Amino acid sequence: MKKLFAIIAVVAMVLGLTACAPKETGPKTIKVGIAIYKFDDTFMTNYRNEMKAYFETKNSDTVKYEVEVTDGKNDQVAQTEQIDNFIAQDYDVLIINLVDLTAASTIIAKVKAANIPTVFINRQPSDADMATWDKITYVGAKAEDSGTYQGEIIVDLWEATDSKVDKNGDDKLQYVMLMGQAIHQDAALRTEYSIKAVEAAGIVVDKLFEDRGEWDRVKGQEKMATAITQFGDAIEVVFANNDDMALGAIEALVAAGMTDVPVVGVDATAPALDAIKNGTLKGTVLNDSDGQAHTSVDSAIKLLNGEAVDVLQWVPYVKVTPENYEDFIK
Ligand code: GAL
Ligand code: CA
Repeated sequence: MKKLFAIIAVVAMVLGLTACAPKETGPKTIKVGIAIYKFDDTFMTNYRNEMKAYFETKNSDTVKYEVEVTDGKNDQVAQTEQIDNFIAQDYDVLIINLVDLTAASTIIAKVKAANIPTVFINRQPSDADMATWDKITYVGAKAEDSGTYQGEIIVDLWEATDSKVDKNGDDKLQYVMLMGQAIHQDAALRTEYSIKAVEAAGIVVDKLFEDRGEWDRVKGQEKMATAITQFGDAIEVVFANNDDMALGAIEALVAAGMTDVPVVGVDATAPALDAIKNGTLKGTVLNDSDGQAHTSVDSAIKLLNGEAVDVLQWVPYVKVTPENYEDFIK
């Protein structure tokens, strides 16, 4: 009996203590889940590092952002599992760089059901998908513009007084197009608008070769080597949907002794700016990973605070040439 009373007394004390325990102090923790389509991508690596760094600057006495970043390894099944885990662990907000845009509707249905505001980045879900919930937003850059700028860089080279672009003097531009992943709106739009800009300047184009380097430097080099085997000196210019493929193409051109062929890319990564400096890359377009990272993080915080954000948010591209490349070196 005595023992029982003793136990009851202890239990009562513990309960009492917990009830009277002072409220926890210190910052409130916000769990942020970031899903990247794959880590092995130069542009998205800059982007995710900047998001992490920028979240750090948002920590204060009242809030602490706990950021977890996952590698989708270019596999939508793996990424969906990572997102399911974020949801199961009650994350407060998500930032998602989808692997496969056709998964957008499924993913949006999941975050909506769990009421977790979500920022989509870099790969744009359809307007119909975006219209299905008001706590989602997309942050990106207008791919058309990057294509147009690439075309304009080539037009300027073609129209220069000492231009040697038209090697065979037939008044047509014989070109190679190295494209990014088929699933990505940037690949299709850069391909289309770069050529449109050239044609808008009254230049007749002649497509020699077009293939996918999937955003990848090694694949860009391999596809370019194939193009060189097939068309050799007939190639007058190379458009690459991004800098990694442009740098791969330059490797193939150097190996073939064809360094006179102008190459343009997109992103303005550090190695691309180096290549502009040493003259192997004729131009690129800034795909502003810092600006997009900041807008994404700011949007995530606004959505968390119940503030409204636009459904689509655009960060501008900037044309980068030998004249201004130094402005973009970090
Ligand atoms: C593009 C970028 C590419 C690649 C791709 C990934 O915007 O130009 O280099 O990072 O996104 O989705
Ligand atoms: Ca020609």
